[in-house]
Amino acid sequence: MNNVADWSVSPETYREFCAFLQERCGIVLGADKEYLIRSRLVSLLPQFRVVSLDALLQKVIRSDNLTLERIVIDAMTTNETFWFRDVYPFEILGSRILPEVVRERSRIRIWSAACSSGQEPYSIAMVVREQEKKLPELKSAVVDIVASDISDSMLGIAQNGVYDSLAMSRGLSAERRQEFFEVWDQDTGAFRISEDIRKMVSFKRVNLLGNLLVLGKFDIIFCRNVLIYFSREEKLRIVKSFAGMLRPGGYMFLGSSEFMTGIEDSFEMIRLNPGIIFRRLD
Ligand SMILES: C[S@@+](CC[C@H](N)C(=O)[O-])C[C@H]1O[C@@H](n2cnc3c(N)ncnc32)[C@H](O)[C@@H]1O
Repeated sequence: MNNVADWSVSPETYREFCAFLQERCGIVLGADKEYLIRSRLVSLLPQFRVVSLDALLQKVIRSDNLTLERIVIDAMTTNETFWFRDVYPFEILGSRILPEVVRERSRIRIWSAACSSGQEPYSIAMVVREQEKKLPELKSAVVDIVASDISDSMLGIAQNGVYDSLAMSRGLSAERRQEFFEVWDQDTGAFRISEDIRKMVSFKRVNLLGNLLVLGKFDIIFCRNVLIYFSREEKLRIVKSFAGMLRPGGYMFLGSSEFMTGIEDSFEMIRLNPGIIFRRLD
């Protein structure tokens, strides 16, 4: 095999690959994003024994190789995340939503619908543990946190719960690090989330474009910083399906830049300062 890889992509292949990606996982690449494909996929050429990026894209579009498809989709996802991202969703979860929901129910189901490497669902779990100290009803309730993502590699990291020093430095207070983590590797500064918090979260591979109803009903859904990559129609369709998955009065969190209109018949919009949350209409 010639080891000088050809990184060019024909306009036709680019168009076909964009359509393929949007159909399989919702991500809209837009024009002039060849550089993104290049930076994320060239490292796969040797593994799939192709010498050009164009050939790799053609292979994923035309073959039914599910392994290749999953690896390519995984590589095309943007997985940026950190602890207690945007702060307000976790504050409002602890101060308002958990006290309200636990008054009504002794089993609470929370879904982190695009959990990346786990910081979001584990932040939720930490808030639950913190609030249990103030709310005896919460302590006696059962709280299930379901976390899902389309990316196998991110789910692997999330399930393992080990974070390097950079990840640990983003959004986590010294008190929370002390309370909810244990040292994993003294030399590298890696920590592992405690077993107690790990056990509160169950992870699943879920494509937001797939059948979501199998996940059952939830009291609270976090779907943050993923719908920005989707078309408006797809966003709307997914958020409407969340309305069907939430119990009446249940809450939905979107990312801070993912405000949307067209869902007023399903959700009451509650403006906070800062941020917006959505409550399913009864
Ligand atoms: C930018 S991260 C957001 C992580 C976290 N929710 C946060 O706000 O910090 C977006 C995640 O969405 C996932 N994703 C992209 N398309 C998806 C799809 N169709 N179904 C499920 N997850 C998807 C990606 O793998 C990625 O981990």
